[in-house]
Amino acid sequence: MRVGILTGGGDCPGLNAVIRAVVRKGINKNGWEVIGIREGWKGLLGDTNVQPLGINDVSGILHRGGTILKTSRTNPFKTGDNPDELMRNLKDLELDCLVAIGGEDTLGVAQKLGSMGVKVVGIPKTIDNDLSGTDQTFGFDTAVNIAMEAIDRLHTTAESHNRVLVTEVMGRHTGWIALYAGVAGGADVILIPERPVVIDKVCELIRKRHKRGKDFSIVVVSEGAKVAFNTEVDKDGSLIVKDMGVDQFGHVRLGGIGTLLADEIEKRTKFEARAVILGHIQRGGAPSAYDRVLATRYGSAAVDFIREGKFGQMVALRGNEIVGVELTEAVYSLKRVDEKFIEMAEEYIG
Ligand code: F6P
Repeated sequence: MRVGILTGGGDCPGLNAVIRAVVRKGINKNGWEVIGIREGWKGLLGDTNVQPLGINDVSGILHRGGTILKTSRTNPFKTGDNPDELMRNLKDLELDCLVAIGGEDTLGVAQKLGSMGVKVVGIPKTIDNDLSGTDQTFGFDTAVNIAMEAIDRLHTTAESHNRVLVTEVMGRHTGWIALYAGVAGGADVILIPERPVVIDKVCELIRKRHKRGKDFSIVVVSEGAKVAFNTEVDKDGSLIVKDMGVDQFGHVRLGGIGTLLADEIEKRTKFEARAVILGHIQRGGAPSAYDRVLATRYGSAAVDFIREGKFGQMVALRGNEIVGVELTEAVYSLKRVDEKFIEMAEEYIG
């Protein structure tokens, strides 16, 4: 059996742990050949970019961030000829099946290829934790811990200077990172896409806190949060974007809401405010212990799925069990933060 493996979309702590698990179990237990496809789907287009992966290639990578296979946001279905070229290349490379590690975009491509007859198993990756069908994606825990540690550090400087510190975290369409890191870090205001808000409400929350004797505040805002600023910049709470360009999957580049928010808070409340944008720090560096274990479990299960012929599925976490979920279900819609969790969190904000 010749198994291809690729990592697509944004990088994410734990990718190397998955690759290692697939290669080790694939070779040691099953005697397979594992072929690494470089730079996501891009590696299967044009002249192809692949490398055989042996046990020594995955030695010493468990704790390393990023991906030894590199990644890209290439969408092979973006242009007409690419799917055929990709299918031809898969045949030429004599790959029996594929392991695709990625989020909604990468797994969306995997699902389409599956419907064209490619044998594929998906593994859920994204720091955003917004993939349906699984309780958790790997990478999320690490990102939350990084954001929580930043919030802890921001507390002491905010307190020393009597400032409002606005921390912008990732999470394109969902507030998982903001809410978890905000709750874990004891934030005073948490703004997420699932709960659009007007700026007056944010300022009111901060004023209320300051009235009860606190002279600093921590605001955590998801990059995709919708805040209505009632200004020329934004009247109705649309997404704040860095530029209007879109990637191959049609996503705009978010970012900038933290700075806007800090400026507006300062203008309206007269409390000094600053913005901190955590950005790619949340995706970089070593995975947490939890993510290393989850990534290893996912990789191990993907090998079992291949052996058992369970294709067209994504390995997923349900409770503490690893189960299979149809790729169609996994990419059908995004998993948003559930109302119950938001309600619980509200008790501890402010
Ligand atoms: O991978 C998910 C993510 O980190 C989102 O949270 C964020 O909006 C996006 O990727 C950023 O993408 P890029 O690194 O390609 O700018």
